[in-house]
Amino acid sequence: MTAAMNDNTPKGLSTAPGWYQAGFEHVWLPYAQMKTMRPPLAVARTQGCRIVLADGRELIDGIASWWTACHGYNHPHIRAAVERQLAAMPHVMFGGLMHEPALTLARRLAVLLSGDLDRVFFSESGSVAVEIAMKMAVQYWRNRGLRGRNKFVAFKGGYHGDTTGAMALCDPEVGMHAMFQGLLPEHFILDLPRDEASAATLEKFLQRHAEQIAGIVVEPLAQGAGGMHFHDADVLRRLRQAADRFELLLIFDEIFTGFGRTGSMFACESAGVVPDIVTLSKALTGGTLPLAATVARRKVFEAFWSDDPKHALMHGPTYMGNALACAAANASLDLFEQEPRLAQVAAISQQLASGLAPCRHLPGVRDVRVKGAIGVVELDRMDDLEGLRARFIAEGVFIRPFGKVVYLTPAFTIAAEDLARLTTAMVKVLGEGA
Ligand SMILES: Cc1ncc(COP(=O)(O)O)c(C=O)c1O
Repeated sequence: MTAAMNDNTPKGLSTAPGWYQAGFEHVWLPYAQMKTMRPPLAVARTQGCRIVLADGRELIDGIASWWTACHGYNHPHIRAAVERQLAAMPHVMFGGLMHEPALTLARRLAVLLSGDLDRVFFSESGSVAVEIAMKMAVQYWRNRGLRGRNKFVAFKGGYHGDTTGAMALCDPEVGMHAMFQGLLPEHFILDLPRDEASAATLEKFLQRHAEQIAGIVVEPLAQGAGGMHFHDADVLRRLRQAADRFELLLIFDEIFTGFGRTGSMFACESAGVVPDIVTLSKALTGGTLPLAATVARRKVFEAFWSDDPKHALMHGPTYMGNALACAAANASLDLFEQEPRLAQVAAISQQLASGLAPCRHLPGVRDVRVKGAIGVVELDRMDDLEGLRARFIAEGVFIRPFGKVVYLTPAFTIAAEDLARLTTAMVKVLGEGA
């Protein structure tokens, strides 16, 4: 271990593998105070719903790698598709060139998504997909001769990513981006229209400000990283009505909710609401490779369809439409077609509801809620987040609470016994007090 590591790295690394000790002082980790954090676990491999650590321990995964690995890890069908694609062509630029995996994926997404959401713009991460949605919405108006619509309505408790455009849509109070006030453009962050009264407030707001607004952005049915709060389909119907009345674009950020997480393939589908733009990522490739998509309805695309080159969408990430990632996504969609994923989500939902129910009676628990394959226990307060995370690991499960929320978002393929171990660990560890 070098002197610099002694100064700058958390305690407890002396038993870590050599590659860990040699590399740790050169890596900067997400959402972490590098000085005080507990060292992250060294992972050797994954399989199904298990994370195998370098020291031989095996954890049951309750998070599915930030909600991506919906089929479990190392699914042979995705692996075979990626291996085939790797041999044929890992990547080719998407400017001036085109390939089968991307076009097949675009067509399949267009078929799967509701209504005429049928024009797919690829990128490589969720935040970028949100940035692209914002650019699409603002330029939609500009291409139609309206230049003043540069603001968005987004919602308290919302989270849309870590790049500056997306950060500006997050809840500035509870979100993690409060530090950057001053850098970020100011949008309108309002209460979700959960009832008629808040719908009326939104309506009044839009009466005053609609002419400055390009669109309304919402995580449909489940707000994830902002606190795992749920709402019902009526909220989305009210938003659709408001968007129609004031001629705003409605953008659903389905980066968390897409691909079965809330119980249907997409949240917009179960709500019976067609947004004008939808963003997808996370489970798009079944948790194997980074890929995102911003999908527009025909009327949005038509505003860019012109003889004027300035009306083109000026965006093009280098790895856009990456062939490996598109092959993985196509294989992931095969699995949704061939295996009973949504039935598995329904079964997980029931098991989460019964397995987490005992948490309701624990001291310090404010709420227990379940939607689809998302199970949440919200606490009154969180005194020792790192300690709680370590307790779960000691129980042989990987559960990663944040804020005041302890949650499970397992792979849809998780065995009932493994899910029972996750819920039992939640009840046990939270019973000890957080
Ligand atoms: C709803 C939502 N939007 C956007 C993002 C950002 O995605 P990424 O981390 O891939 O940039 C996330 C990530 O958690 C998310 O949950």
